[in-house]
Amino acid sequence: MMDFTGKTYIVTGASSGIGLSCAEQIISLGGHVTGVDKNEAAIDEASYEHFRMSVTDESAIENMVNTVLDKNGQINGLVNAAGIWGSGKPFYEMESEAFQNVMDVNLKGVFLMSKYVSKAMMLRKKGKIVNISCIRAAVFRNNMADYAASKGAVVSMTSAMALDLAPYNIQVNSVAPGFTYTGMTAASFDNPEVKEQSEKLIPNGRLGMPKDISSVVMFLLSEMSDYMTGTNVFADGGYHIQK
Ligand SMILES: NC(=O)c1ccc[n+]([C@@H]2O[C@H](COP(=O)([O-])OP(=O)(O)OC[C@H]3O[C@@H](n4cnc5c(N)ncnc54)[C@H](O)[C@@H]3O)[C@@H](O)[C@H]2O)c1
Repeated sequence: MMDFTGKTYIVTGASSGIGLSCAEQIISLGGHVTGVDKNEAAIDEASYEHFRMSVTDESAIENMVNTVLDKNGQINGLVNAAGIWGSGKPFYEMESEAFQNVMDVNLKGVFLMSKYVSKAMMLRKKGKIVNISCIRAAVFRNNMADYAASKGAVVSMTSAMALDLAPYNIQVNSVAPGFTYTGMTAASFDNPEVKEQSEKLIPNGRLGMPKDISSVVMFLLSEMSDYMTGTNVFADGGYHIQK
């Protein structure tokens, strides 16, 4: 099966939820992980190194990538999982600073991380980038214009980046999670009524857990998906296929 022994990965949002699960799964498959998060490390293992920083900080990203390359010589894969929820208001009541902040973290963060990591991958003509998008790039509810815009843009940018990097044998895909129990959503889903209502909307009948998403990410990081690029893969228990 999958074996990431001797390989090096960078995972953003590695201190919680989907990013943390990705980091844990990579390590369990033998890989080394550099985690990037604005919060402290959640993993304490020899094959894990943590950079406490924001994905919006371009010079910190450049320094971090150079440090990883100096130590490990290569970067085999990047998972862009850091993200924030939007302001939860109708768009006509959103503050422009709040809108910009969501775009900076969810979209520009993916751009900046991918830019510096792909330069290293291009030299080796090999690599995998997996971006975490969302069902909210395709299926909408009220009060999410900032978040939905950022995730729709992540899906479009994933395909555009895939074309730029195809000549370099670097595959870029995104995973669109549905309702997933993480740090971002625990406060809502810990309410039994919200959990029950949400589960009624999911054909598979249950909330996603971080491992449901990170398992798809592992496939996209592995050689098993070498012929997939520029695609957005839904991992949502069937949510988006309903009318
Ligand atoms: N939970 C869901 O239902 C769900 C559904 C679809 C998509 N997603 C996406 O999955 C990704 C992971 O979210 P999660 O649900 O695991 O949430 P989470 O809050 O548990 O984890 C997100 C992590 O990103 C980090 N982070 C936030 N802003 C950052 C920044 N500027 N720089 C560095 N790190 C930063 C946080 O500190 C946190 O550790 C996000 O992109 C989110 O939009 C989540």
